[in-house]
Amino acid sequence: MKEHILHDLPGDHPWQNQIYWFDSIDSTNTRAKQMAADGAPYGTVLIADHQTGGRGRLGRTFQSPSGMGIYMSVILRPQCRPEHLMHLTCAAAVAACDAIEAAVGLRPGIKWTNDLVHSSRKLAGILTELSVEAGTVNCAVIGIGINCCQQETDFAPDIRAVAGSLAMVAGRQIDRAKVATALIDQLQRMDRTLLEGKAAAMERYRQDCITIGRDISLVRGDELRHGHAVGVDDEGALLVSFPDGHVEAVNSGEVSVRGMYGYI
Ligand code: BTN
Repeated sequence: MKEHILHDLPGDHPWQNQIYWFDSIDSTNTRAKQMAADGAPYGTVLIADHQTGGRGRLGRTFQSPSGMGIYMSVILRPQCRPEHLMHLTCAAAVAACDAIEAAVGLRPGIKWTNDLVHSSRKLAGILTELSVEAGTVNCAVIGIGINCCQQETDFAPDIRAVAGSLAMVAGRQIDRAKVATALIDQLQRMDRTLLEGKAAAMERYRQDCITIGRDISLVRGDELRHGHAVGVDDEGALLVSFPDGHVEAVNSGEVSVRGMYGYI
């Protein structure tokens, strides 16, 4: 697959000489953080065919079977304070939607904050991890897992009803290398305008975000609250209106959002 990706990337692509392929790995994010600590440059890309310990938000696992998906991490080194990167996951989600649209011809929606969905099923997830030194970002690792080739029975029973793949929603076979190439390209474009293009990226995020306008349940530990999602601010926080009329900006850190009657 690495050969296909290199063949499809434009010959002068700035990241083309720093793409690492793994047949199997514990987690591309974990390895990317190690490589970043060892000095790997910005734009280092790790892609695996299989992860034995794929990780998601809130300590969840991300099922990463061989031959089925794209499991990719990219090392970025934005020169800023971490509070200026609150929108990073949102910008990456828009870039992933752009990549899927370019490669497959359909555009997923985004379930706040980091799930790409289509036909009421989760197609992809994003896990961003920052390393901060002396108040400044040392590196940001963006990890993206996209289900490409699975059919419903390929998913474990606990997620079978809510997980989907590009093949399932497109109704045809998917060329994983093509999707991976588009993803590398869109993430590089996103990185070029990450700081000064924040407002524009968040405007695009709001257009893709299917959570806005829905009744939702907010789960934080054992606490469950119900509200109505009215927007997303420029820091990526979900604006939730509660029955007593007050509106809160909810950060993604420890909260999971569900539709009032199901996953979406
Ligand atoms: C989520 O659904 O909460 C996020 C899933 C992120 C999965 C990707 S796959 C590549 C990278 N390596 C990991 O261990 N996780 C991310």
